[in-house]
Amino acid sequence: MERLQKMIAHAGFASRRKAEEMILDGQVKVNGKIVRELGVKVSTTDKIEVNGIPVEREEPVYFLFYKPRGVISSVKDEKGRKVVTDFFQAVKERVYPVGRLDYDTSGLLIVTNDGEFANLLMHPRNEIEKVYVAKIKGVPTREEIRKIEGGIMLEDGKTAPAKAKILSFDKKKGTSIVELTIHEGRNRQVRRMFEKIGYQVVKLKRERYGFLTLNNLKSGDARELTPHEVKQLRALATSKS
Ligand code: URA
Repeated sequence: MERLQKMIAHAGFASRRKAEEMILDGQVKVNGKIVRELGVKVSTTDKIEVNGIPVEREEPVYFLFYKPRGVISSVKDEKGRKVVTDFFQAVKERVYPVGRLDYDTSGLLIVTNDGEFANLLMHPRNEIEKVYVAKIKGVPTREEIRKIEGGIMLEDGKTAPAKAKILSFDKKKGTSIVELTIHEGRNRQVRRMFEKIGYQVVKLKRERYGFLTLNNLKSGDARELTPHEVKQLRALATSKS
């Protein structure tokens, strides 16, 4: 038996909070009857519907995916471009990516069907440390690196303190490789941070998400997260709440 709102969240329908709102709003039926209470428990044999759409119970599944460049962080694309779920066709559960990496960004992405878990990880308050490696045109000065670390003003506000380190530079090509560690997850944040100090990012990869790394994974490959890793991620996110 599981609480109705939890079951709706686990089915990937909505976050638990949203599911609670939908229940209170009379949008949820159990065995054909509208249920407006939050405490109701349901079992595998109960028929749940949200706005007339059957909620299929799925076992929660969790993956660590190495997203290649040239893939949309979504489950479908109107322009017919490759999407993350194209790599999960053998998985019967309806999975989707947690947050997004740009089309041109490669690297570590978590993929799940657990809406509650996805919302927990994505909540701005729980922002988990992410490490990006960027190839940029030019070589930033120490002063510019300090600026990035201290926070810079973007259109959507000042960025939180970050860590930045030049890993290497190619004098001939005039490019450098910079590691940037941030806690936020704003849209195109790394690219915009570098642009703001006058550098173009030509390649970007997310190497780490919390304690998770790509390890030996190849681009386009995925592996299941262990139950312990899922637990650790949950703990990491909730510890900031
Ligand atoms: N920052 C970016 O600019 N792009 C990403 O895909 C992720 C972080």
